[in-house]
Amino acid sequence: MSNVQAGSDTHMVLFCSNYINTYKAFEPERLPWPELTDAELERMRGVPFWQEILYTEMRAITIIDAFSATVENPLIRKALDLMGKEEKRHEHLIRYLIAHYGITIADQSLEPLPADIETTFIDFGFGECVDSFIGFGFFKIARETEFLPEPLLDILDILMEEEVRHVLFIINWMAYREARHGRRAAPLRALTSLWYYGRAISSLVNVALRNARNESNGVQFSATQAGEILGETRLRHVLESCLAENARRLATYDKKLLRPLFLPRVAGALLAVLKLGSLFGTGKRELT
Ligand SMILES: [Fe+2]
Ligand SMILES: [Fe+2]
Repeated sequence: MSNVQAGSDTHMVLFCSNYINTYKAFEPERLPWPELTDAELERMRGVPFWQEILYTEMRAITIIDAFSATVENPLIRKALDLMGKEEKRHEHLIRYLIAHYGITIADQSLEPLPADIETTFIDFGFGECVDSFIGFGFFKIARETEFLPEPLLDILDILMEEEVRHVLFIINWMAYREARHGRRAAPLRALTSLWYYGRAISSLVNVALRNARNESNGVQFSATQAGEILGETRLRHVLESCLAENARRLATYDKKLLRPLFLPRVAGALLAVLKLGSLFGTGKRELT
């Protein structure tokens, strides 16, 4: 980030106003919902992740609203209230989609929030970062494989784009918070982020394991439903897609804002190892 010190008032005004000023007004029911063929409808109805998305949006609303009520800074609170409003619109959009295409979902009630609402919000925020990074890649692959009709993916892309803004806000707010707590040095902030990324990833792994044992309670979407979209797609292509989409989506926002670094670095390192492995594998084949 150039010229703006994390934790300064300038930084706070920058990330809040960037978030607030990039808000786009729309009403879910007025979007150009496409008519689907019987085969497309069958595919839509056969996919099990609508309930999971809905649950994630509902949980996001309660966390953001509860946390916002504890925040004293009026500009940060204004941004958080807007984020809550967007998550409510996400819920509304998914409910509309479910009703419009006659998708059946099971009822799923929200668990009560933990008492420490700030930690819950931070865990939720890092969860959004992890889920969005993976989701960006899957979304790109969903377009390539024509997993859902293009006009429908265009509508769902509106949600993805709003998640990019959520991630940017959360990353910058977290750096601001850390600096205000005296952890101004980048390595110290990175250490805290690492801790929360670890918690977010382990939460995703737990959900994936529960899914594998058919005990899913529908808490997450991107990682656990990977197989539905991926088919035969290889890990290398998934990582390349996540990295490319993450970079493309973030590129349009103010360069002075902090960007999420951890996941792109991990994915980049993993990709380098895979490429090295395939080079080694090719060399070995040539030798034999
Ligand atoms: Fe959302
Ligand atoms: Fe979000």
